[in-house]
Amino acid sequence: LREAIRSERLRPGTRLPSSRTLAVDLGIARNTVADAYGQLVAEGWLASRSGSGTWVAERTTPVQVPATPAGQGVGRFRYDLRPGTPNLAAFPRSAWLTAARRVLSTSSYDVLGYSDPRGLLPLRTALADYLSRARGVAVAPDGIVVCAGFTQGLELLCEVLRGRGAACLAVEAYGQDLSQRIAEAKGLATMTLPVDAGGAAVDQLGDTEAVLLTPAHQFPLGVPLDPLRRRHIVEWASHTGALIVEDDYDGEFRYDRRPVGALQALAPEQVVYAGTASKSLAPGLRLGWLVLPTHLVEEVAAAKARLGRLSSSLDQLVLAELIASGAYDRHVRRSRLTYRWRRDRLTATLRRDVPEVRVTGIDAGLHALVELPDGDSEDDIVARAATHGLALDGLSRYRLGQQPHSPALVLGYATPPDHAYTTALARLAAVLTSQPQASEVERIGPHVGTPSDERVLPW
Ligand SMILES: Cc1ncc(COP(=O)(O)O)c(C=O)c1O
Repeated sequence: LREAIRSERLRPGTRLPSSRTLAVDLGIARNTVADAYGQLVAEGWLASRSGSGTWVAERTTPVQVPATPAGQGVGRFRYDLRPGTPNLAAFPRSAWLTAARRVLSTSSYDVLGYSDPRGLLPLRTALADYLSRARGVAVAPDGIVVCAGFTQGLELLCEVLRGRGAACLAVEAYGQDLSQRIAEAKGLATMTLPVDAGGAAVDQLGDTEAVLLTPAHQFPLGVPLDPLRRRHIVEWASHTGALIVEDDYDGEFRYDRRPVGALQALAPEQVVYAGTASKSLAPGLRLGWLVLPTHLVEEVAAAKARLGRLSSSLDQLVLAELIASGAYDRHVRRSRLTYRWRRDRLTATLRRDVPEVRVTGIDAGLHALVELPDGDSEDDIVARAATHGLALDGLSRYRLGQQPHSPALVLGYATPPDHAYTTALARLAAVLTSQPQASEVERIGPHVGTPSDERVLPW
């Protein structure tokens, strides 16, 4: 805060969120916020009056701020509406702490030794129960390999596939470029499958040995895989012996209807189900899981051991406890409500303020596709947003093949903490409706913590 005031990102008179609100958003004790506010009041940066809150104090002498080189300093982007990260401020810290305390007080010391490369049995057991109940996965603990997120899971699979002589992995024509790069780094060529309103065009698969799909919620277009295509691809895999990798990165978050169940249950010996805690909890945990066909379990576990990448035993046990105690389900249910509310706010704001855009892919997940009028430039909008302190991604950033698409934004609505969401949406609407002059950008300038940023709960 001191730095923000010194650099005049927070201007005199700006009201700060209440200590209670900021404490909830940052996941820290209210007293810590109150102490920091008190310290800054004592130093003269803030002013407060009982009953009137806290605000940035007026200054008599202007502050000389040394220039910060571009790209450095505190958060170039005040607001982040790119896809990929959940609301980290909502991480269930106290439930995690309770689970961690229980794990540490009940586990024997030998859990701290080198462990089974498949992952610890309590986590595989808890995951098997959760995945069959919540995602309809056909799974037993012995069929799971815990890994450092989906990313490591894919790396392990590509390593094993290449070792078995596979030459090619098909990927969706729109997706994460990291997946394509991982496959190629492991020596697999990639081919891209066109994607349309029914998901990946799986009838266009050639003689590739494996295919990576996001069937529940295509990333980034946001559509589920058409039921006929689900059946088709499973038949194709059974017929050819090929492997389907099902990336179920956000399957828990479906809002208006029941979640689309996992494809894996249709053909457990042809499909690898890949899940992750990166959306439901936090990507920094680096915890994910592969549910594997029987014939792959040992090889994948051996590849993991060979690469020396075991996952932290304590984190595995804490996640197991979180799931077994029901706290994980409660967190997912709470998050689903909040994200649904955010999605509704996004669609309502854009319908009202920017009716010329179309928002699609909104049934599930933590992102939507905002289709721009033909002729709009994704790059211009992304650059203009940056001058408002707002981070956006254009759809072309996710194009892996040649398939063209009209201009669109892939808009992640989960990342801003609650108190900043309303302002992030307002800035999005301003960016989409205007071409501001430089002076206007200066006036709007990045800021945090104004009263309009105050948290509004969805219920
Ligand atoms: C399509 C897709 N799959 C998987 C993931 C999760 O990757 P990881 O589990 O390695 O964090 C992401 C994260 O953004 C994603 O966008």
